[in-house]
Amino acid sequence: MTQTNITWHETTITKHDRCVQNGHRSCVLWFTGLSGSGKSTIANAVSNELYRQGISEYVLDGDNIRHGLNKDLGFSEHDRTENIRRIGEVAKLFVDSGKVVTTAFISPFHSDREQVRSLFAKGEFIEVFVDCPIEECERRDPKQLYAKARRGEIRDFTGIDSPYEAPEHPEITVRSDLISIEEAVVKVLDYLREKNIF
Ligand code: PPS
Repeated sequence: MTQTNITWHETTITKHDRCVQNGHRSCVLWFTGLSGSGKSTIANAVSNELYRQGISEYVLDGDNIRHGLNKDLGFSEHDRTENIRRIGEVAKLFVDSGKVVTTAFISPFHSDREQVRSLFAKGEFIEVFVDCPIEECERRDPKQLYAKARRGEIRDFTGIDSPYEAPEHPEITVRSDLISIEEAVVKVLDYLREKNIF
């Protein structure tokens, strides 16, 4: 439903003001990858390091958001699209608040990720592809979800009976089966410095 009779109010304090006060630019680091690829672990490690360096940061994580804001959503294509749409809007609010926000959602569909990208100014949306072969994700299986999916106890499981569309031109690719978490953190922070985020 498209809303009518609503008006956007500009605030006196702007994103620019908040970024000046924080001493760095704001952006979203949008981690995408299969379940078990290491998205949450790396996003969290990046946020820890940003925090340690005095950067105003926040993590939005798939399992956590699905406990609250998106607890009405499942894993059908429609629900995943709505999940990502809402997270995109939340991430935009965090970026407006002057933060470097890391998000860790499978976000399996290219069009959904591009829809989120379109919400942001150039350079604010940084797609981080946590690239890991499904065989390795399934070997790790930290939550035993692949095993359940193989037994038919979970339906629409990403990579098994629901698709994952890998990013074609991500800003950053992390091969989590080849490099350590610490190396992944360095790679992401190097990118942020190179782009003068801080
Ligand atoms: S999505 O596709 O972006 O909407 O998914 P997301 O919000 O990131 O949620 C993924 C986490 O939900 C758990 N889970 C499933 N994942 C994939 N497919 C199915 N069917 C499913 N059912 C539950 C799982 O713990 C995912 O977390 P990660 O961290 O990716 O393993």
